[in-house]
Amino acid sequence: MDIVLGLDVGTSGTKAIAMDASGKLLASALVEYPLYSPKPNWAEQDPADWKRAAFEALTQLAARIDAANVKALGLTGQMHGSVFLDKDNQVLRRALLWCDQRTAEQCAQITGKVGEARLIEMVSNPALTGFTAPKILWLRENEPALYERVRKVLLPKDYIRFELTGEFATDVADASGTLLFDVQHRCWHKELMSLLGIDPSFMPASFEGPEITGTLSKEAAAKTGLPAGIPVVAGGGDQAAGGVGCGIVREGVISSSLGTSGVVFAFADEVSTDPQGRVHTFCHSVPGKWHVMGVMLSAGGSLQWFRNTLCPAERSVGAETGMDPYEYITAAAARVPVGCEGLLFLPYLTGERTPHKDPYAKGAFIGLSLRHTKAYMARAVLEGVAFGMRDSLEIIRGMGVKVSEIRASGGGARSAVWRHILADIGRAPMVTINVDEGPSYGAAILASVAAGMYGRVEEACDAIIHEISRVEPDPKHLAAYDGWFKEYQAAYQALAPAYRRMAGMLG
Ligand code: XUL
Repeated sequence: MDIVLGLDVGTSGTKAIAMDASGKLLASALVEYPLYSPKPNWAEQDPADWKRAAFEALTQLAARIDAANVKALGLTGQMHGSVFLDKDNQVLRRALLWCDQRTAEQCAQITGKVGEARLIEMVSNPALTGFTAPKILWLRENEPALYERVRKVLLPKDYIRFELTGEFATDVADASGTLLFDVQHRCWHKELMSLLGIDPSFMPASFEGPEITGTLSKEAAAKTGLPAGIPVVAGGGDQAAGGVGCGIVREGVISSSLGTSGVVFAFADEVSTDPQGRVHTFCHSVPGKWHVMGVMLSAGGSLQWFRNTLCPAERSVGAETGMDPYEYITAAAARVPVGCEGLLFLPYLTGERTPHKDPYAKGAFIGLSLRHTKAYMARAVLEGVAFGMRDSLEIIRGMGVKVSEIRASGGGARSAVWRHILADIGRAPMVTINVDEGPSYGAAILASVAAGMYGRVEEACDAIIHEISRVEPDPKHLAAYDGWFKEYQAAYQALAPAYRRMAGMLG
């Protein structure tokens, strides 16, 4: 039986999975590591931790499967992080992560030098603090002695690729999140690098998702128990690989993942950008295709906050009965009328990325009256997150990208009540599928194509992934929700100046 592997260098840990040609999960292993925050708004990890975790996870996996049958390994991981290597390929400092916010000044410099419209023309995206290019400029300005010694800048999973194969390589999807990649033409943007004074030789060669970038070295094979020489496949940034893992490989099919954050991920046949840069446009892991993505910072996180802060009774009954407290909360919400009789929730508990790019935005309940009970507040949270998702959908639709079905994934997708609300507010069917393994599964699918088990990524997804449930929007609710959505959008506009003033008062 042929086996392929997927390895996801995530933020909380590295996960390795093994699957067979039919997509059946054979084994998985997860090894965790810390995140360091030496100053407020800083987020760093030690590439040595990733290396230890990746080798440990692969070793555990190899022991649980018939390792001799492994045909290929696909890589994925957290995007945007910066691993700086010196001339001897030694790591110079901890990596700055996707969620690190220290580079606001460098983003302003890039935008000032290039101009926002020109930047979006060049690399399809605006300068955001999480992206890689501003991190490189930060190092140059703040740690010049280290910067002098930099010879390579690698994304997290590509550092692991180097340790596994000895090759410097990346994939087009992950490269898109550096702000140095010509997303439209799928190659490094040399002109932008020269404008910013970044040496193009810092960046590794780029490959399409299912291409082979090297083979497992003898040393890595000896350490993990996997066969030496198996192809290591380009893979993708975690969002693109996660998209492949949900079968988002055709125009019209999009995914909505409701974890702590919420990501609306759409497939695009043609490159298409939002002139205001409110959604990201990146290359997809499907060769020659793109994806467009809106990121909400507190989606499942809003409901989790509601549960933790306002639902101690549901939690203790849940602990006694073994029932998930979210089931009590969503069951109560289901009995509340659509629109919560005028109660709105803004889900900006940790600021927002899409559509507002506003670190000062905050959460709010608006329209509270004596009639509103906790059940109304629960439904308002579910509806508020769905309105946030609709914001991304509207931008994506406005870019000419079709939305004919939304595949729900992540913890929030388990709630049927929430899926109904999402279908009504998003005006599209909400579908659940047979797998929810995340990016590592997509990386394994890309490996299966490289190993010749399937001819194309689309063919692999069609064979492996199928629908298990579908909720259609209820025509009775659409008009009411359209009205409340307008009020939801207006509420943020009305509150935004107050959020800024209040942030100033807090210092
Ligand atoms: C994508 C993003 C996150 C990270 C971490 O733009 O910032 O998805 O890749 O998962």
